[in-house]
Amino acid sequence: MIDLRSDTLTVPSSGMLRAMGRAAVGDDNFREDTATNELEEHCAFLFGKEASLFTPTGTMSNQLALRVHTRPGDEVVLDEASHFNTYESAPSADLAGVSLNTVRTVDGVLTAENITDAVDAKSRDPRYSQTTMIALENTINYRAGRVVPLVALQDVWRFSRKKNMRVHLDGARLFNAMIASGTPAHEYGGISDTLSVCFAKGLGAPFGSILAGSRDEIEEARYYRKSYGGAMHQSGHLAAAALYALENNVSRLDEDHALARRIFDLVQQADIDGIAIDEVQSNIVIIDLSALAISAEAVVSRMSEDGVLGMAISRHRVRFVTHLGVQPESSGVVAESFRTAVCELDVTRKGKLSCVG
Ligand SMILES: Cc1ncc(COP(=O)(O)O)c(C=O)c1O
Repeated sequence: MIDLRSDTLTVPSSGMLRAMGRAAVGDDNFREDTATNELEEHCAFLFGKEASLFTPTGTMSNQLALRVHTRPGDEVVLDEASHFNTYESAPSADLAGVSLNTVRTVDGVLTAENITDAVDAKSRDPRYSQTTMIALENTINYRAGRVVPLVALQDVWRFSRKKNMRVHLDGARLFNAMIASGTPAHEYGGISDTLSVCFAKGLGAPFGSILAGSRDEIEEARYYRKSYGGAMHQSGHLAAAALYALENNVSRLDEDHALARRIFDLVQQADIDGIAIDEVQSNIVIIDLSALAISAEAVVSRMSEDGVLGMAISRHRVRFVTHLGVQPESSGVVAESFRTAVCELDVTRKGKLSCVG
């Protein structure tokens, strides 16, 4: 099987399991878990923040940030393709009581201009809801892992200071952005009030995310983490996996990017008319089939017969995510399986050059 459904599918290596077993643990509720304390101190330092908090998932880190930065009735501006909108709109309303004001950007990159347009589209008379937070994402999952340029993030940050809005950066795949762009971690800490990263996406850890911010914000997030049921006890075994991932599995992310790029190149070379494939910048390949008379589900299902697994992320879009569990030489099989699936399923293309042979 070549399983490209998600980079959350990686499993701990034997080295990681040994590190987890050796971890010095205690009860994190008493702040006595040595490995968790070490991870939190390390991540705060890495991103140039005062403090950080280990949480079970990226969703929880995002939701804690939202809770800390907003009050019920507030509004948050964000790109419509962001994880916050596609998967967290209900919990955002449910847990934080906020509404999401989504922006349809060309490439997922929010600018001061499109945020202003979104804010000014409604009355901001004090009787009505105020925009108090901007949610950013980097890399952008549903924009084919787009790496947001640092200058664009800096612009939004400057804007947010003038407008008194808080900024949270959903950096579930921020290490991919760092490796792809060569941007140091602390630069990302400098353009957001809080940021989150995930250890279970492409880094081989079984679990966990970190939320970094000011000491006060993180203390408040600690309170909400407990009330949401996310406070852990001997979490050091898992923190040790995250520390191992940071040390061993971040610098190799460029291998995943190279594999995604090879899949992109081979699909391009197959010259299948009617498909649109987003430029690959990190470890995610997204192919849009809207112009064809076939569904993403059908393509994914046909490809699974060849042992290649992708994911239909919408009716017409297929996603392939590379990660450390995928062999680097698998690109040819993936591209060929995709070509075969499209040729077999789209009866209108019988005899077309890309489907011959
Ligand atoms: C950009 C982004 N943010 C947040 C999450 C949520 O992470 P988790 O599944 O750990 O809750 C994901 C999950 O894929 C993601 O892609």
